[in-house]
Amino acid sequence: MKATKVTAPAIRSRKGGDNPVTMLTCYDYSFGRILDRTKIDILLVGDSLGMVVQGHENSLSVTMDEMVYHCRLVTRAVQRALVVADMPFLSFQVSTEDAVRNAGRLVKEGGAEAIKLEGGAAVKETIEAITRAGIPVMAHLGLTPQSVHQMGGFKIQREEERLVEEARAIDQTEAFSLVLEGIPGRIAARITREIDMPTIGIGAGPDCDGQVLVLHDVLGLYHGKSPRFSKRFANLGELTESAAEAFIEEVKRGDFPGEEHTFK
Ligand code: KIV
Repeated sequence: MKATKVTAPAIRSRKGGDNPVTMLTCYDYSFGRILDRTKIDILLVGDSLGMVVQGHENSLSVTMDEMVYHCRLVTRAVQRALVVADMPFLSFQVSTEDAVRNAGRLVKEGGAEAIKLEGGAAVKETIEAITRAGIPVMAHLGLTPQSVHQMGGFKIQREEERLVEEARAIDQTEAFSLVLEGIPGRIAARITREIDMPTIGIGAGPDCDGQVLVLHDVLGLYHGKSPRFSKRFANLGELTESAAEAFIEEVKRGDFPGEEHTFK
């Protein structure tokens, strides 16, 4: 039986239920195929690719062209999960017109079905303009990595009243969900209780309406230090290393290629 396609309105309707939303990042075709075979709800082409795929210290240098490229790789593979693409740094902050055009590129050229952008009350109008253009928007509050310099590093955000106010401002828009990153669980729980749209947490405790993690942290593929709030569910880094060592050994011993790999 063909699995039901996940849509932005379907995610919006999952507020407060007993079926938490699950989201993982994804940056290419191979992982897109594998992850789409699971029950994951959302695949996020995150600008975290700047760190985990490109090896930068932060996500600030990621360009629109790079996001469109990675988005295409993922959407070529994915049929069931909802594909959301991140708006990279400076693709939406300069003007609303820019924001709508760039969101449109992620949909039109990249095949994304929704976009995500960072910010609170300051991006309210931008969210409204993008949703008016028919593009579903996921918002993102708390430890917003594109503001790394303003925050003085990747720091847990603890100003409760400001965070609640920002979340309320987002809740007045047509955004279909809100990512809460790097905030105390108590504040995330309060926001989740007080707003109507589903919250999706990363480093925001267990009381959000869903959870998201960066794929390379989950799989043990990230070369750097993963944040304390992430969890490694497998160690593909080590598996890759031992597979490469086994290949090298077999070639040196003359065991590979064998007869079964050789044409007569
Ligand atoms: O870019 C990203 O991976 C993200 C998630 C951490 C939510 O924004």
